Amino acid sequence: MSAPLISPSILSADFAQLGEEVRRIDAAGADFIHVDVMDGHFVPNLTIGPGVVKALRPHTKKPFDVHLMIAPADPYIAAFAEAGADYLTVHPEAGPHLHRTLQMIRDKGVKPGVALNPATPLEAVEPVLDMIDLILVMSVNPGFGGQAFLPVQLPRIERLRQMIAAKGRDILIEVDGGVTPDNAASILKAGADALVAGTAVFRGGPDAYAENIAALKAAG
Ligand code: DX5
Ligand code: ZN
Repeated sequence: MSAPLISPSILSADFAQLGEEVRRIDAAGADFIHVDVMDGHFVPNLTIGPGVVKALRPHTKKPFDVHLMIAPADPYIAAFAEAGADYLTVHPEAGPHLHRTLQMIRDKGVKPGVALNPATPLEAVEPVLDMIDLILVMSVNPGFGGQAFLPVQLPRIERLRQMIAAKGRDILIEVDGGVTPDNAASILKAGADALVAGTAVFRGGPDAYAENIAALKAAG
């Protein structure tokens, strides 16, 4: 196993100083910046919109990995693309036309991703494997940081890895929710390439970020 890509979720950052927080996790070794967008409808929580992504863009050159937990997603894709998203990940349940949504994302010059909730069948992503660059496996029910990892996702990661290998395409498997240095090795062994972590990166405050990211990378 090689060292995983680490995508800290800024949901756990200090929202009163987000720009500074993004610079800190960049300096601490983050590979991506994970941005959780919630609408209080698709998930029971509200967070941020494209204006915040745009405001954060000058603070780092690292890719913005934007996770849209919103329905519908289509009306906001152009705004997030223009704000500086590098990956835009949508849930299949967010609209009736996943294929069209992914096409819209690609047309805007952004890498499309599909997020799979804990109970979403893997078959939901199978017909669009040719169109995407990332699959986000949710290892908690989306909406909040700080929840416990659901180990039942591990065999699903293994199956996804096989599906991707059979396709012969380069698609990142990223795992999101309850990731810690204790469970990271099992997630990577199952076939993940990238780990999202909120609590496990931001705990202990700014002086701990580099150590926290290194602890996750060491699991590879
Ligand atoms: C959950 C979000 C996750 C979450 C991760 O809806 O998609 O990105 O913030 O936070 P932790 O690492 O605390 O589970
Ligand atoms: Zn997320």
